[in-house]
Amino acid sequence: MTQNSALTPLPLISRKAGPLKGTIRVPGDKSMSHRALMFGAVAIGETTIKGLLEAEDVINTAKAMTALGAKAERDPQGIWHVQGVGVAGLQSPSEPLDFGNSGTGVRLAMGLMATTPLTARCVGDASLSKRPMGRVTDPLSLFGTTFEASEGNRLPLTLHGAKNPVPVTYTLPVASAQVKSAVLLAGLNTPGITTVIEPTPTRDHTERMLKGFGAKITVEVKDDGRHIAIEGQHELKAQHLDVPGDPSSAAFPMVAALITEGSGIVIENIMLNPTRTGLIDTLIEMGGNITIENRRLAGGEEVGDLHVKHSRLHGIRVPAARAPSMIDEYPILAVAASFADGTTRMEGLEELRVKESDRLAAVEAGLQANGVPTQSGRDWLEVSGGGAPGGGKVTTHMDHRIAMSFLIMGLASRIYTVIDDSRFIATSFPDFTGLLNGMGARISPAEAR
Ligand code: S3P
Repeated sequence: MTQNSALTPLPLISRKAGPLKGTIRVPGDKSMSHRALMFGAVAIGETTIKGLLEAEDVINTAKAMTALGAKAERDPQGIWHVQGVGVAGLQSPSEPLDFGNSGTGVRLAMGLMATTPLTARCVGDASLSKRPMGRVTDPLSLFGTTFEASEGNRLPLTLHGAKNPVPVTYTLPVASAQVKSAVLLAGLNTPGITTVIEPTPTRDHTERMLKGFGAKITVEVKDDGRHIAIEGQHELKAQHLDVPGDPSSAAFPMVAALITEGSGIVIENIMLNPTRTGLIDTLIEMGGNITIENRRLAGGEEVGDLHVKHSRLHGIRVPAARAPSMIDEYPILAVAASFADGTTRMEGLEELRVKESDRLAAVEAGLQANGVPTQSGRDWLEVSGGGAPGGGKVTTHMDHRIAMSFLIMGLASRIYTVIDDSRFIATSFPDFTGLLNGMGARISPAEAR
């Protein structure tokens, strides 16, 4: 049930390109955009959001919030206005909520709805309908929420919010910010204190932004991990938010400049929350010429401008402990690794198996199709560097990050790369091709070859 406008696949070709030059901005952070809309929806008053990511995943969240009774609308200046209904104010939607391709959208929304007595049917596209939902329905059931899910705890599912929710203490069994956030959001309309124990730190936008909205939330670091406690049934206060550029989107032009000879680019206004910057650390360790200038605080997050120059990279071992801070960046790191000297080994990748596609398998297949030698196991991948010959066609499996990664590979490969379908790029980075071509890339419809 995808909302992608084009019904047929749109293959693209990316040819070897000259130097990339320019100063660019990438769209707003996806994690913060989903949260800004959702928290605004349950605050009291009107929340305004500047710099919201206007991509399919986030637009689906805006529609879902409107369907639940909290209006989310864009004004002609591009500022979004959300009329909040209070922590107990969401209403049953009259139609199913369609979250398209977005795991973050559906999992966080399930948490938000879980402790209000409403009924909502949640659906998504073919990719989202394959992804595991038990990781959120299990902890949400502890509050008293009930679900009728499809086989294997998947979408489509119907959620019945708890009438008399009870607070929960929950230790995360997987390092997942989505699961953490779903539980904390369920805590918003639950009497007493809901606690999430997070043994491995994951992105902390929920904690930071909820605090900004005035939630009674505390974070304590103990021997068994971070304890995040929220006292429920206190109203949130509407906020004026400014969403900085998404480091996960900046990753694509950043690697493009590193691997394309003669390049030098600046990517302005990128969010630098330390739970999101694992790729920057890794690329610098590989010899990448990346400097961060103009560091400043904006809307409770550190931001800065990334200056990136073509660099000779070398292979390294990327430890499992770094995975949560760069979980969405492995496909593009694998592309960078294929242009490095020597082998790059990435560990702790088990969560890649349950993203928009099985990303470990999809990345490895794409690398091999383009002549890059690889080895892999259940949760690791080794990429042999030395440059990608190219010439292969990549199957993207409805996964925006697989699509963008292999278009970047084409810029520096010996021939070109082709991807079978570019439609899903619109879920997170609608103007990806225009922005890259504006800097000197050569990405075009594959038919034009
Ligand atoms: C996200 C958390 C991560 C990440 C996703 C965005 C979030 O997922 O992959 O793109 O905004 O909370 P997991 O929680 O499944 O690791």
